[in-house]
Amino acid sequence: MRGRNNRAFFNPTALLPEDSAMNYLDDSENSSVNPSQAEHFNQLVERVVTRRGVLKSGLGLGALTFLSGSLAACGSDDAAPAVVTPPAAPMINFKAVAANSGNAIVVPEGYKAEAFVPWGTPLVKGAPAWKPDGSNTAADQALQMGDNHDGMHFFPMSEGNSNEGLLVMNHEYINPEYFYAAEAGQTDIYGTWTLDKVRKAQHAHGVSVVHVKKDAAGKWGVVADSAYNRRIHGNTAMAITGPAAGHSLMQTSADPFGSYAFGTLNNCGNGWTPWGTYLTCEENFNSYFGTTVAGATRTALMSRYGLSSGDTSYRWHQLDNRFDWAKEPNESNRFGWIVEIDPFDPASTPKKRTALGRIKHENAAYVLTDDKRVVVYMGDDQANEYVYKFVSDDKFDAANPNANKNLLDHGKLYVAKFGDGATQGDSMGTGEWILLDKAANALLAADASFPDQATVLINARQAGTVVGATKMDRPEWVTVHPSTREVYLTLTNNSGRNDATPLNDANPRANNVYGQIIRWREAGNNPAATTFEWDHFVLAGNPTANPLKSAGSANITADNTFNSPDGLAFDPEGRLWIQTDGANSNTGNYAGQGNNQMLVGDPKTKEIRRFLVGPDGCEVTGITWTPDMKTMFVNIQHPGEVGSHPRKPTIPAGVDQDLYLAQNPTAFSSWPNAAGGRPRSATVIVTKIDGGKIGS
Ligand code: FEO
Ligand code: CA
Ligand code: CA
Repeated sequence: MRGRNNRAFFNPTALLPEDSAMNYLDDSENSSVNPSQAEHFNQLVERVVTRRGVLKSGLGLGALTFLSGSLAACGSDDAAPAVVTPPAAPMINFKAVAANSGNAIVVPEGYKAEAFVPWGTPLVKGAPAWKPDGSNTAADQALQMGDNHDGMHFFPMSEGNSNEGLLVMNHEYINPEYFYAAEAGQTDIYGTWTLDKVRKAQHAHGVSVVHVKKDAAGKWGVVADSAYNRRIHGNTAMAITGPAAGHSLMQTSADPFGSYAFGTLNNCGNGWTPWGTYLTCEENFNSYFGTTVAGATRTALMSRYGLSSGDTSYRWHQLDNRFDWAKEPNESNRFGWIVEIDPFDPASTPKKRTALGRIKHENAAYVLTDDKRVVVYMGDDQANEYVYKFVSDDKFDAANPNANKNLLDHGKLYVAKFGDGATQGDSMGTGEWILLDKAANALLAADASFPDQATVLINARQAGTVVGATKMDRPEWVTVHPSTREVYLTLTNNSGRNDATPLNDANPRANNVYGQIIRWREAGNNPAATTFEWDHFVLAGNPTANPLKSAGSANITADNTFNSPDGLAFDPEGRLWIQTDGANSNTGNYAGQGNNQMLVGDPKTKEIRRFLVGPDGCEVTGITWTPDMKTMFVNIQHPGEVGSHPRKPTIPAGVDQDLYLAQNPTAFSSWPNAAGGRPRSATVIVTKIDGGKIGS
């Protein structure tokens, strides 16, 4: 997410000065750590390609297989060079698109992209039409598509069905400058502040379950009045399950038993399970909580998760006591979880799975162990926060759906420690998973601020600090390779990587404005292992703007340069799709990068090619495919967000930019409606004109 709300209060990206790379270039204190990664991965593979070289570098055999990807396994002959086996066919087989700063979706030659189900589209039976003047009510919004489309998954209606399914997606937040109808004489973007406006915003968050089907001409549409069509939003009742359910920190005046929450918020990335459920991940939940009570003091727990000491840009707490932390001190503890939803049962109750820990969840990626336990990888998106994984106690049983229903309620939660390995400055290392368990971890057992395991889960961030987890450069999406089980994670950027938070090999750059993608392989290729080896897939950079120290790794060129990788997913054939949510000024550090975009990486060759450029002001996030891989769904979030875009509108002197946009909502963008209407988040359907597989 970016969004003005989050930028103002919570998003470190917003604090990046345009010239921050210059600070970096001038920072000689970094010279002992080689931020240019002088030896690129491919060169490194050449160096370590013999077994002797592997041993010299301190890496095990597993690491060579991991790092080389297409390299043949090592034989016993120490001196024999490994053989590079080229892939059978090029993995990336489209013509790259150029960076641009335009107000349209751009896809490669031979592809087409069409907007679908934008914010406000009628969804649930009885939903009224979207009103271009922003005057829909809270009741309307509860039946319409939410705002700021994000993580998403296509569930086929039957196994292998690529013509009909449930498209389930997150709605992360709202853009208030575009969200409400303009009012005569308004002095700020909110106008007359009413409870209906609060409720409308709450109803625009959460999840949509959309029954989609192709017509006879092959065009996708929403199945009108389908019983599957559903909105889950900021006031939907849901169960709290797992070890923290019922804990005193989870109890509120509306729910004295701490077992029933109301709503899900800031639904960012997603996950899904092999038993057919959807996981929605609550990210910057803190941004909805404030207080009007003068002199009220936040608890340490509230501060650790970044609750505002007073006002918030959402202003919900002013009219809805649930969001005033001085009046409802535990309500915020009921957010920051992963929520499991069964999209095929419209009457099902969503479940907040506390065993997976409470953080600012970006997304969730599962993989099965050989004995069918479920492992879920998760990142906490804030500068200098941590990476986690959950390992279920019980096993997935494809033949017994009932046995899978509560797999996510019982298991072990770990936090990651990324070590430099045997050599510093080489963009690789080793790591360990530290168990966050009150009884089994001596540091937590000895810490009185964690009286029980529920507190460890509710305050997972602080538990990670106590056990010495590695501070990362804003962990975003994580994804698991479909066959090798290698795990890839975006680290989007970090303006807070400085002297107080030292560099390390995994996070090697101060004032990191570009971000990186890190990947690891668990010991023995066992997802439940407690040690791993890692390296960087890419250090994003800009060879034109910052050729000396932030050019990025060797797979970054003037043609594919980008910043702030965020969304990340492997397709079923093993292509790595990279989505960006970063600066789109196209100047300074970001010259030549254009609008936010989506690129494709080859995990073997590390080649990266740009596939899509989004419209002005947007972020590209959320991705899923039909089983035949002939339809790809991608989300375009917050088009028209002005930021530092080079074509931003001229605002009359003395007029607040957001107030101007609230009164002139088409001043910058009206995407996706060419004929008018304010900018709206939407899904984009990408197909190949010849009907082929996407990316092939
Ligand atoms: Fe919602 Fe970290 O992006
Ligand atoms: Ca994101
Ligand atoms: Ca190292």
